[in-house]
Amino acid sequence: MKKEQWGTNFGFLMAAIGSAVGLGNLWGFPYKMGKSGGFAFLVIYLVLVVLVGSVVMLGELGLGRKTGKGVMGTYLEFSKKHAWMGYMGVVSGFLILSFYCVLGGVVTRYMIGYAAQLVGAEGFAGQGADFFGYFLYSPLSMVLFYAIFMALTLTIVMGGVQKGIEKFSSIAMPALVAILVFIIIYVACQPGAVEGYKFMFKPDFSVFSNPEIGFFGVFKSAAGQMFFSLSLGMGCMMTYGSYLSKKENLQKNALIIPLADTTIALLAGCAIMPACAAFGVDFSRGPGLLFVSMQTVFENMGGFGAIIGFLFYFLVFIAALTSSISILEVCTAFQIDKDVIKGKEPNRKKISFIYAIAIFIFGLPVALDALGSGGAAIMAPFELLGLEAGGPGYAMWNDCWLDVYDLIAEGILMPIGALVMSVLIGWFWKTDIIKNECELSGKPFVGYKFYDFCFKFVVPVVMAFIFYAQLVDFFS
Ligand code: PHE
Repeated sequence: MKKEQWGTNFGFLMAAIGSAVGLGNLWGFPYKMGKSGGFAFLVIYLVLVVLVGSVVMLGELGLGRKTGKGVMGTYLEFSKKHAWMGYMGVVSGFLILSFYCVLGGVVTRYMIGYAAQLVGAEGFAGQGADFFGYFLYSPLSMVLFYAIFMALTLTIVMGGVQKGIEKFSSIAMPALVAILVFIIIYVACQPGAVEGYKFMFKPDFSVFSNPEIGFFGVFKSAAGQMFFSLSLGMGCMMTYGSYLSKKENLQKNALIIPLADTTIALLAGCAIMPACAAFGVDFSRGPGLLFVSMQTVFENMGGFGAIIGFLFYFLVFIAALTSSISILEVCTAFQIDKDVIKGKEPNRKKISFIYAIAIFIFGLPVALDALGSGGAAIMAPFELLGLEAGGPGYAMWNDCWLDVYDLIAEGILMPIGALVMSVLIGWFWKTDIIKNECELSGKPFVGYKFYDFCFKFVVPVVMAFIFYAQLVDFFS
């Protein structure tokens, strides 16, 4: 089989930025920032993106392009001993894609609800801003919209790298930016919006002395968010890097992606926080932000609410879809690598179909436990296992399947993936492996000492911190 490739570097960038920009930016970033002290969170997040995110990004893109394979193929290229890293990537894919598509389904439902309102119909079953709670307890609708979102993801991945992923992302991403800018301008014109900007940008480190959160709490939340938001540690950027032509400038790409991702996270904050401030909604409410708080904002907006609401959820929908396709692609490429090693001719359509079905089944508990609010179609994890409410892990996992899946992926597997890769590059294969790959484009490698130091020391030390904070949290 001929190796698939991106048509252009622009197409690659749109796909990679599309993967990075998703619910993590539009939902996770503003709500975690809201809960973890605003400005203090922002500062730690930015430092982590520069010292860890951009470095791990270059490592993944470099290894992927060097071998031309996905996460499994890449590690096997070095040694059979590393096969577990490949499996870890796919397990992360299962965990993330399942809850991601459940959430994508909810977003799709909101988008359709506002579209219905635009043509004068009642879009939210007469529930107004209580719709979220109502929808969570409608198991059939939850599963239906989950299935729709998974099917859309599958359709694009079946289309292949260039005709599916690249084509969709190259249209969707510019549209996303245009809508986001429009919403930011609209929100900025509303009286009271300024409180939202103040919360984001006014220097304030008081959260560090809050005994419930503290420095470690903010650090852990910012670090997990950074991996997730940049799609790192599970082989996604490795897989996308493997479709990139040798003549493209890897170093530049590895900087543009985190820069774009961070900018869009900040822009999302600049749309959401001031909107909440202007329309009297508390922005530190946590995960309900994207649905409950934002719907309240649109309800309070009056006449324009339906159109802005529709545009907002359409934007979130696009962002989520360009991310979910990249996760399914990791699993598809994993199986393609395995087939090629076995000497079998891989069938992309069949592979992606089988994985999508398997992941869909795996994610059903997330769609059915009403986010652990009790009395739902499926019991929440602690209830199901008969564990004591309030025991170890309870506070951290919130006792719902989504948080369990998310924390295993974002809090454990992705940091381990990034840690092992950095140690292998820094200490065993040596940073030259990345330098040589980058120089194939004909441009000299810039900042060798910085990258070498980060692979060897900074990334491992930051990871140690994350695991420590994770353990403390688990038992608290
Ligand atoms: N980066 C995506 C987001 O922020 C999620 C994602 C994680 C995508 C891992 C691919 C791989 O929403």
